[in-house]
Amino acid sequence: MIDTHAHLYDEAFHADRDAVIARALEQGVSRMLLPNIDADTVAPMLELCSRYPNICFPMAGLHPTSVTPDFEQQLKAIAPLLNNKNIVAIGEIGIDLYWDKQYRQQQTEAFRIQLGWAKKLRLPVVIHCRKSYNEIMAELKREQDGTLRGVFHCFPGNEHQADEVTALGFELGIGGVVTYKNAEMARVVQHTDIRHILTETDAPYLPPVPYRGKRNESAYIYNIVKMIAELKSMSEEEVATQTANNAKKLFSV
Ligand code: NI
Repeated sequence: MIDTHAHLYDEAFHADRDAVIARALEQGVSRMLLPNIDADTVAPMLELCSRYPNICFPMAGLHPTSVTPDFEQQLKAIAPLLNNKNIVAIGEIGIDLYWDKQYRQQQTEAFRIQLGWAKKLRLPVVIHCRKSYNEIMAELKREQDGTLRGVFHCFPGNEHQADEVTALGFELGIGGVVTYKNAEMARVVQHTDIRHILTETDAPYLPPVPYRGKRNESAYIYNIVKMIAELKSMSEEEVATQTANNAKKLFSV
């Protein structure tokens, strides 16, 4: 199994980070991909990845909720990461109109610039999409030149949107939300070909059932695989193998 989205460098894991990774490995989660947030998370992310080579992999990106009017300075601070040969994706990037709409313009511009990074470096993108589906799709359609690929992390849409996303060359990141009694998410997973599904935790956020209200961690990928297997009437092993292969293919890990 692969956790394609985990913020394991976060303060929430300050006291027991090594134990968290040990539990994930024990559970059969062999790789953990770490999306960046802003200039301040770069150092702890790289430090963790250098301690766990071939297990933890870094990404380069500026999270949309970290975009402020000085976003160009922030992008400049993150850009040196692009020379790091271990970077597996540009992420997490996107548009978030849930918390704060005042920097909508800046968010869109930062997203566009980072899609440019991905195209130039031929890297996949990890997309954060919250209350911004139409805005993000408009950007992706404009920028798609046949080389853009990636994943909608914590896919927030319906079956029709799932079809649009996969037709445009993107995969669906499925996490803990699939274990909440969420009928729409269940339909999306049943409807979508397993070859377009990636597993992710978004640790320390969005823990699956039965860990709701607690800190999320990569070992809980198992609970997500189990739920996908139930919804698709597949064996847990098939789901684990296929989703891990999807992740290996997209991120070259
Ligand atoms: Ni995230």
